[in-house]
Amino acid sequence: MKLIMAKNYSDLSRKAANVVSATVILHPNCVLGLATGSTPVGMYKQLIEWYQKGDLDFKAVKSINLDEYVGLDAQSDQSYRYFMNENLFNHINIDRSNTSVPNGMAADIERECKRYDKHIHDLGGVDLQVLGIGNNGHIGFNEPDEAFEQETHLVNLAQKTIDANSRFFDSIDDVPKQAITMGIKSIMQAKSIVLLASGEGKADIMEKALFGPITPKVPASILQLHPHLIVVADKDALKVV
Ligand code: GLP
Repeated sequence: MKLIMAKNYSDLSRKAANVVSATVILHPNCVLGLATGSTPVGMYKQLIEWYQKGDLDFKAVKSINLDEYVGLDAQSDQSYRYFMNENLFNHINIDRSNTSVPNGMAADIERECKRYDKHIHDLGGVDLQVLGIGNNGHIGFNEPDEAFEQETHLVNLAQKTIDANSRFFDSIDDVPKQAITMGIKSIMQAKSIVLLASGEGKADIMEKALFGPITPKVPASILQLHPHLIVVADKDALKVV
């Protein structure tokens, strides 16, 4: 594990954007695994800034997103497709047909999960996977469980996740109860992973994830086994004074 410690959120965003930029510059047709949540927003802003300055070119880049709520379509401003369009894709020259987010409106969710796995496979896997971490240790929407789910699958969201994500919705009742998430295998098969964490609210779970036992009860703990894990975290998220 390589640990990059940041002073604060803006420093974290710049350092994380550097990791992504290095991949895009060295491998212009790379496959980026992308994440939602509030943590990567600053990183996406930084990437957009560098793109606008002419330092980055996304025309041959492909992207695969980790997850999507079930029942929200691309036009819904709470869907992860909408999030990605607003926070990144609308502002860079990525070819929209090269971007993928699971279809939360699919009539047959099981089939959609299989299609997504095949698509990841057909792209040759992920070069760099960006991850945030849920406050219960989830990555993507892989929630604490009895076993690590390997493939893309339908997940019932944990109450803790519904509570945490309710801040983005008008009311907690509007938060979808299910999601489609890329499985642990596709995440772990990425050539490199960059895990982002910011703020003291993530400190306890980061300690468990990085230094605790490897267990599906803390899904992010599996990342300890990845040979090319880069952690970019600010001091607050690392209990550093
Ligand atoms: C959601 C996403 C995760 C993300 C997590 C943490 O549940 N599915 O991919 O890591 O939120 O979000 P935040 O960065 O806002 O704390």
